[in-house]
Amino acid sequence: MSKSDTQKPSIENLLHENRKFKPQKKSFSHYFLQDMSHYLKLYKNSIKNPESFWTRMASEHLDFFKKWKKVFAWKDCKAQWFLGATLNVSYNCLDRHVQSDRKNKAALIWEGEPGETRTLTYLQLSLEVAKCANMLKGIGLHKGDKIAIYMPLIPEAVIAMLACTRIGVVHTVVFGGFSSSSLRDRILDSNCKALITADGGFRKGSAVKMKEMADEALKETPSIKNVIVVKRTHEKVKMFPKRDIWWHELAENYSDSCVAEQLAAEHPLFILYTSGTTGKPKGLMHTTAGYLLGVTLTTKYLFDIKETDIFWCTADVGWVTGHSYLVYGPLSCGATVFMYEGAPIYPEPDRFWKMIAKHKVTILYTAPTAIRSFIRLGKELPKKHDLSSLRLLGTVGEPINPEAWIWYYEVIGNKKCPIVDTWWQTETGAVMIAPFSGVTPTKPGSATLPMFGIEPIILNKDGTPAKKKDGGFLCIKKPWPYMARTIYGDHERYKKTYWQEIEGVYFTGDGARQDKDGYFWIMGRVDDVINVSGHRLGTMEIESAAVEHPLVAECAVVGRPDAIKGQGIVAFITLKKSANINPMLKEEIAKFIIKQIGALARPDEIRFSDSLPKTRSGKIMRRLLRELATTGDIKGDTTTLEDFSVLEKLREKDED
Ligand code: WT7
Repeated sequence: MSKSDTQKPSIENLLHENRKFKPQKKSFSHYFLQDMSHYLKLYKNSIKNPESFWTRMASEHLDFFKKWKKVFAWKDCKAQWFLGATLNVSYNCLDRHVQSDRKNKAALIWEGEPGETRTLTYLQLSLEVAKCANMLKGIGLHKGDKIAIYMPLIPEAVIAMLACTRIGVVHTVVFGGFSSSSLRDRILDSNCKALITADGGFRKGSAVKMKEMADEALKETPSIKNVIVVKRTHEKVKMFPKRDIWWHELAENYSDSCVAEQLAAEHPLFILYTSGTTGKPKGLMHTTAGYLLGVTLTTKYLFDIKETDIFWCTADVGWVTGHSYLVYGPLSCGATVFMYEGAPIYPEPDRFWKMIAKHKVTILYTAPTAIRSFIRLGKELPKKHDLSSLRLLGTVGEPINPEAWIWYYEVIGNKKCPIVDTWWQTETGAVMIAPFSGVTPTKPGSATLPMFGIEPIILNKDGTPAKKKDGGFLCIKKPWPYMARTIYGDHERYKKTYWQEIEGVYFTGDGARQDKDGYFWIMGRVDDVINVSGHRLGTMEIESAAVEHPLVAECAVVGRPDAIKGQGIVAFITLKKSANINPMLKEEIAKFIIKQIGALARPDEIRFSDSLPKTRSGKIMRRLLRELATTGDIKGDTTTLEDFSVLEKLREKDED
């Protein structure tokens, strides 16, 4: 394929896409669904009688200690599902498999970046989880307490998460690539009592100093009483007596038997932070039964998990994708999970393909941005390896441009694997719109049709249905069991952001259109959130970080299309009068932003400007900046601009 294909903004490509791929009955048979009419029949029924549908699903797919008395209640935008029921997530992910034929089946196959591997069977994983749960109890954690997990992608991260769920401790996993300030803010917001971390993790051949980052964060987090540290890199770290304990030393004192707590269906399961339109990330809270039902069902139905599958979701546990499809979904289904610690192209650019061939991965679930970087490296790399074990390919995180879709389908899937493009969000907990693999005909760039029980609609801002050809705001008509229940500590913000933006429906923040077949085409965010390499960042979040710099007076951040990352970050900055522009200042500001948020927030471009375009009421006109950053010029409506000379200055080429 030509380079220019990948470089066209994906949204533009999506508008002209009309290829359709029929399911290949010969090479693929869905374990449950026969064909599209079967899907449509079940789907219609799930929408018509949601409570009986979810009741049947919960009874068939999950193990409860106590059944519910009421399926659903809704008050003050607070949903409750399966009221009166008790269950345990780790019981569903472990015990029920240990008690079955899966006892000695591999639950987790892990490969570290240096190349070592570790396999844990369901029995072995359950013993490790029980021991870790006892360790957490031992350091004084109780049901309902919060704990932060800041770890590399090693088995202990999964063990720690499951251990929390075993005793009802609420985890908040913070992505290992986030800076110490981000970690600190999340710990403070959710009031965590303990932290589990590691000395470090391996990335691109070097040891990332996670403990050092954690120590920096913990200087300002009085709520943290203990830190459990996994020895991974064996680099020297500072251990604070009384506060810090090595995982392996603590483990020696505890037994590997721990009964799973019987938790209420609505017991908080985890808090996960994600970016919104304001500077402060929001802690979305998910609860036990509904979330587990969502990830279990979608893993079974959309990814068609079978007993012999090896499922590789390449996301980090620090993102919702890692929670739902690296840990909870596949383990609840009793599948074998493959997990890799490090960078995808280290030490050689074909590391991904080498591991798929070595471990015989059958399902690969990754992000469009990764696919686009592989395209750039050339198809010779995957072709060097035997990828014939693959039978299904998933994507998530951002709209996939049709050319990347086709490449994934042809080069990686050898035209025999269905492509499962999954649309969902941290807030939705699990997949909402995606093809049923091998059943739903696919169209490159479209996430296709909704999951059972989910009713997406496209509306105008006033709540009226949008015209099909124009598209509009993607909303979900009714609450569903696996949605986030609240923003931790700020239910008002939850209500306002999701249920009151368009009264009475869930507002996703995405624009979308529907084609004549009813397929959904996601057009990207309609708010001040940008999507960089499938990671969600608030423009305000980056702006607030930048203005903390002593020389920055004002900053406006916009996204612009990027051939590999989906969107890139452009920061327009006005400096304080006292600033002395030196050639290093841009790099210094970039580093300053990274220090506060993490490397993923590095601006692709910083532009200095004497002033920023504003309306008469003083609002920065980001729309104009977005246009300038994207096309190099401003042709849009400028009538509300306060000072026209700003435009000329902005257009002037930035020399340094
Ligand atoms: C936003 C949510 C859900 C896990 C990863 C991201 C975008 C996600 C798709 C897709 C088009 C997508 C949306 C959404 N997005 N998947 N298949 N097609 N866009 O979770 O960080 O909460 O971000 O990612 O814009 O709102 P997240």
